[in-house]
Amino acid sequence: MSVRIAVTGRIPDAGFELLHEAGEVVAWESLAVPTVDEVHALVKGAHAVLTLLTTKVDDAFLDAAGPQLKVVANVAVGYNNIDVAACARRGVICTNTPGVLTEATADIAMALVLMSTRRLGEGERVIRGQQPWQWGMFYMLGSGIQGRQLGIIGMGDIGTALARRAKAFGMTIAYSNRNPVSPPVEAELGAEFMSQVELLASSDVVSLNCPYSTATHHLMSVDQFRTMRSTAFLVNTARGPIVDEAALVEALRTGQIAGAGLDVFEQEPTVHPGLLERDNAVLIPHLGSATRETRAAMASLAARNAVNVLGGIAPLTPIPVPAA
Ligand code: GLV
Repeated sequence: MSVRIAVTGRIPDAGFELLHEAGEVVAWESLAVPTVDEVHALVKGAHAVLTLLTTKVDDAFLDAAGPQLKVVANVAVGYNNIDVAACARRGVICTNTPGVLTEATADIAMALVLMSTRRLGEGERVIRGQQPWQWGMFYMLGSGIQGRQLGIIGMGDIGTALARRAKAFGMTIAYSNRNPVSPPVEAELGAEFMSQVELLASSDVVSLNCPYSTATHHLMSVDQFRTMRSTAFLVNTARGPIVDEAALVEALRTGQIAGAGLDVFEQEPTVHPGLLERDNAVLIPHLGSATRETRAAMASLAARNAVNVLGGIAPLTPIPVPAA
């Protein structure tokens, strides 16, 4: 029986070259996200599936694919779209794409730190809206970041890469994480490990860089915004549902925090209407890894992972199976 590989969305050619050598490839060609039924029809009989983060991999998906399925290779570092335990129960290996998108995503996080603290979205809207403006000593003043504390929640690869950037901009670094980072990295960054509450209360900018799971669902909600300084900013480049968006809208509206920079949203692609009304929210459409180079590297890595598993070789970047 020939090897069948399904791809649930368009990916760069870099990924396809490898896949074509390994088997017959069926790919979702449209730029529109396929419906659940369309995904299920596409993956039927597949031995490997490359999934995008908009593809839900659950028992229904696995039933639709069939028992021959060996590997689900997510073309993303985040894998909250995949029920990894359900895959493991059926012997399906899951992989993701860490590493190759670290720098691109940290760039976007740093950009959002600058955009939100320096009111760049607001400034752009003035020009594009052809509103009257005039340079002035007190016109559209933002908050400087030099000497200010960036609090990073989730000090993995992306959090650490952001810390390096922020340090170069003169910020001091605090972080909360399951475990402290290694002493050399802590020393290089001058980073201070602290509890999440302490971090929220003392930071001038808080950046979310942790994975999304039931444990981090609405990690930022009413109490957390109350704990933050009224002059502080929130940046989220991780996953939307880590933030209770209704609570964030309230915190921005009432001045409980000074602003936010968001690349991800609770119900993508829908954005909470309250956020759209807030001038102190910078909103961009999930662009963390969106460079040509990064997307090509993600596609290549996902394809390599799938081809390895099909060939009986360990994948380069497997997703750990959660303890039962
Ligand atoms: C992007 O959001 C990713 O998880 O790769």
